[in-house]
Amino acid sequence: MQRFVYKWEYVYNMGMNILIVGNWKLNPAKADDAKKLSKKVRNFAKTLSKVDIVICPPFPFIPLCKSKNDPSTFHIGAQSTGAEFSGSYTGLVSASMLKDLGVEYVIVGHSEERMRGESEDLIAKKAKIVVEQGMTPIVCVGEKIRDESGSHYDFVRDQVKSAFSLVSKNNSKDVIIAYEPVWAIGASEAMQTDAIYEMSLFLKKVFADMFGTDSGLKARILYGGAVNVRNAEEIMRVGKVDGLLIGRESLNAPAFLELIRTIEAK
Ligand code: PGA
Repeated sequence: MQRFVYKWEYVYNMGMNILIVGNWKLNPAKADDAKKLSKKVRNFAKTLSKVDIVICPPFPFIPLCKSKNDPSTFHIGAQSTGAEFSGSYTGLVSASMLKDLGVEYVIVGHSEERMRGESEDLIAKKAKIVVEQGMTPIVCVGEKIRDESGSHYDFVRDQVKSAFSLVSKNNSKDVIIAYEPVWAIGASEAMQTDAIYEMSLFLKKVFADMFGTDSGLKARILYGGAVNVRNAEEIMRVGKVDGLLIGRESLNAPAFLELIRTIEAK
């Protein structure tokens, strides 16, 4: 049986780069600012060899953030998707439309969407649709509170099981689980790095129990929640995750690029 050897180099051994995902949320307000920010990130991505960047702009800005000359280390993600493909669904966007625009990654089940009422069933449907469209879902899980009993492990395991319940074993090899403890999102402090490490191992194990060791080892685990230029390197090094999901700091180009530089330099 394969051991869960987990080193910073782990993702390289799997032939994969570290993944840094910028979740822009409902920002910036102006299309022109989105273009400028994406251009800075794209140009910087050209200098990278160990890190891949995914930016997730709001839907209307997606085409503005893509260019014909995107380097292989620069990708576009969407912050969500609808779970329908066509018809009378006012306000929805479909996964096939996103795919058509060149989107490669889709965030599914972000806690801010869950808080607006997105159900576990809908999250499972979206994860399935995204993989079936040939894109990579970034499925967000995370507890609202932690206590001494360790019930957050059960909570997060149930979220993972439910979110991937409709994904077939065949489609389980290119998925991402973003562990984002809800209490750390938008907070001033990220979670302690040794606790991130424990959770990343736990998530691999949960995934391996569902889909087998191979998929468990291939599933990439990201950490998200109050990541910034000062704590990112330690989260990667001690937390031993495969990448980061970053909100606020991804809108601050100098800090975001410096953060990535510290990780690329390792
Ligand atoms: P934050 O957000 O980095 O601003 O805490 C993370 C997220 O919501 O994905």
